[in-house]
Amino acid sequence: MNFYELAEKALQLEKEGKRIIRLNIGDTGLPTPACAIEAACSSMKSKKAKYVSSAGIPELREAIAKKEGCSVDNVVVGPGSKALLYGLLSVLASKGDKVAFPSPYWPAYEMICKQLGLVQVNLKGSMESDWAFGDLALDGAKVFMLCNPLNPTSSVYSPSVVEKCIKEVSDSGAYMILDEAYKELAFEPIPRYEGAIRVRSFSKEFNMEGWRLGYIVAPEEVAKKMISYNQITATCVPEFIQRGGIACLEDSSRIVSENRAIWKKRAAVASAALSEAGFEFSPPASGIYAFATHPGIDDAWEFAIGMLDKGVAVAPGSPFGGYDKYLRICLSQPEEFLEEAILKMGEALK
Ligand SMILES: Cc1ncc(COP(=O)(O)O)c(C=O)c1O
Repeated sequence: MNFYELAEKALQLEKEGKRIIRLNIGDTGLPTPACAIEAACSSMKSKKAKYVSSAGIPELREAIAKKEGCSVDNVVVGPGSKALLYGLLSVLASKGDKVAFPSPYWPAYEMICKQLGLVQVNLKGSMESDWAFGDLALDGAKVFMLCNPLNPTSSVYSPSVVEKCIKEVSDSGAYMILDEAYKELAFEPIPRYEGAIRVRSFSKEFNMEGWRLGYIVAPEEVAKKMISYNQITATCVPEFIQRGGIACLEDSSRIVSENRAIWKKRAAVASAALSEAGFEFSPPASGIYAFATHPGIDDAWEFAIGMLDKGVAVAPGSPFGGYDKYLRICLSQPEEFLEEAILKMGEALK
């Protein structure tokens, strides 16, 4: 069984009437802001569903440029940040090139590299060092990707680490991609880093997973390549989706701070329950995950499959870079369910 099959199995069990507390998928489970829905509906009603610019509609690019303190020419909008990451690796690297990134990592990084024939260079992080990865051993990589905050640990790299990476990567002549899909869900503000290609998403910060909206902030020559990439792939993000994104950006600080407060509370509840259940973990420094191990786990896959029968779906750590004794727990459930599920896992491990 793989990661996606496990998710399907959980859904199937739910369909059959079994109660499953789902902590396996990185979905916020929170409602999309009403302002986005209203803006998208009114855009659709005014028949704005034609092809638009492959760079993004000017109003959204301008709103992003204002937020990011950059020129509109540095901004490219795309159908979700995963598609943008795929596009970036397609235009910045060629078959056989190396791409470096720390582990644990979001499994899509590995899958994209495989699909594009890129060679993965892994920088191994460990819980004992709060998921730091030591020296930046690029090994001739053409691209270095850093996910900050990190999925699956919800840890945040310190500004000195990120700035050092940006400098060393730039000195080596490689490109640096900063994946900031969870940036504003960090419990302490993360600065705006210059000198890297930054990838942002509306999915987690604005609970818009299914809308498929993200953007990059990149040097103009990279932005141009990405506009061409969009032209030959998705063409454009539908205008009504982009209008929903603008509405969120207009009320961004309220929406994001409300969400951050939810994740902070859930992280505290999950941390207390994980400790009570005998798990070892670094407390999350952002939404939306905890990454934990337990002396009773021999094989996280076996454990995760067994937990389905006990009504809990959780992701094994193996696809996140071979962390076979770890579980990734998405905190996407109300606090009482989160606590119940974690305590159930602890019971199963006794
Ligand atoms: C680290 C990271 N980056 C990017 C994404 C992609 O988000 P989206 O394609 O929904 O914008 C995800 C989604 O789970 C993620 O975990």
